[in-house]
Amino acid sequence: MKTQVGIIGGGPSGLMLSQLLNMAGISTVVLERKDRDYVLSRIRAGVLERGTVDMLRKAGAAERMDREGHPHQGCYFSTVEGMFNVSFRDEVDEEVMVYGQTEVTKDLYDAQDKIGATIIHDADNVTPHDITSDAPYLTYEKDGETHRVDCDFIAGCDGFHGVSRKSIPDDIRKDYERVYPFGWLGILSETKPAAEELIYANHPRGFALASMRNENLSRYYIQVPLTDKVEDWSDDAFWDELKSRLPEEVAAGMETGPSIEKSIAPLRSFVTEPMRYGQMFLVGDAAHIVPPTGAKGLNLAMSDVHYLYEGLIAFYKEGDATGLDKYSEVALQRIWGAMRFSWWMTSMLHRFPDQSDFDQRMQESELRQMLTVPSARATMALNYVGLPF
Ligand code: FAD
Ligand code: PHB
Repeated sequence: MKTQVGIIGGGPSGLMLSQLLNMAGISTVVLERKDRDYVLSRIRAGVLERGTVDMLRKAGAAERMDREGHPHQGCYFSTVEGMFNVSFRDEVDEEVMVYGQTEVTKDLYDAQDKIGATIIHDADNVTPHDITSDAPYLTYEKDGETHRVDCDFIAGCDGFHGVSRKSIPDDIRKDYERVYPFGWLGILSETKPAAEELIYANHPRGFALASMRNENLSRYYIQVPLTDKVEDWSDDAFWDELKSRLPEEVAAGMETGPSIEKSIAPLRSFVTEPMRYGQMFLVGDAAHIVPPTGAKGLNLAMSDVHYLYEGLIAFYKEGDATGLDKYSEVALQRIWGAMRFSWWMTSMLHRFPDQSDFDQRMQESELRQMLTVPSARATMALNYVGLPF
């Protein structure tokens, strides 16, 4: 096969890039290791920034989001002292969209099918070759045969455990990493959300988050030790622990029920530099991971797609390679901004294993500053709704 851009990974970033490029007349082939049902069974992010929403609209994949998604004008923070709201509308005149990553991915697959894009599922052992030449290619195995895709460029959209980042030699790549000493246990349940907006809770027993997908589908998370297993947590134990960390008035009125999904995710901050090697560009989780506390992972993947898309368009339509040459530098500036915000939210809201009473007071004081200092609130709101791109 021959194509202009070979895309490794059919998650949200690979699909969005493929969709936008196809719509602009640039050919792509997407190679995805898993089958479609598997990709669509992963429950992940839930909050979309304006930039992501706009890209979905541009990609012709926003009709359902515009109908079923829920714009949120702010969020709550809770401490032992009580709960307060930060209004994104008041602070920065913006909002975010609550719409699950699973739905985003489904809508992108549907949009790709509609325009007849090439997506190959169950592609095993995808390998990039001759990355630093002007004729790179990908190979993959399917049904016992090896196939080859020749391309001008490779987009590594294959997530944190993919092959793309590992194809960059160690002496060229620099990794920056912080691993946090806890994970998030998350459940999805067909219950009415606890509040009309998300609640981020700091509590001496540990962090909790009350989120949602729609009027009858809630998503909750609690911080757990890394040694905990999903099997250790019955639904009842989860609800009890969650309620103990949320404000009493919220816990008292909360609807509970059986979980329909339950999983544990470790928390990590990770960035690799540079994000380009020869003709290959890293996009999304392939290049960086943020802890989910700032709701930034999916949105960052989308801003990478934006920069790479603009660079590829300028290259193919005007013969201008500047955007591609600057991709890594420009994308990384925004990434480090989101890294800082996610790290700050994580540090402020979680209970660390060696945390002293002093540290706890510092967190409470940081939160109180948001309650009492307008510029602190505005900075939080600006970062949460997403830095511009
Ligand atoms: P991915 O979604 O990881 O997609 C990569 C795709 O590439 C996958 O479909 C994978 O199967 C495929 N692939 C991998 N390796 C290969 C290979 N060798 N060959 C071919 N294909 C390959 N973000 C938030 O904002 N909020 C959250 O609550 C949140 N929760 C998360 C929970 C978990 C368990 C994880 C892992 C992530 C979570 N994230 C969250 C982050 C967010 O989901 C990611 O930032 C987002 O999925 C990034 O999209 P992506 O397309 O770059 O990567
Ligand atoms: C979610 O709904 O899954 C979600 C929302 C906000 C976050 C993280 C996850 O910060």
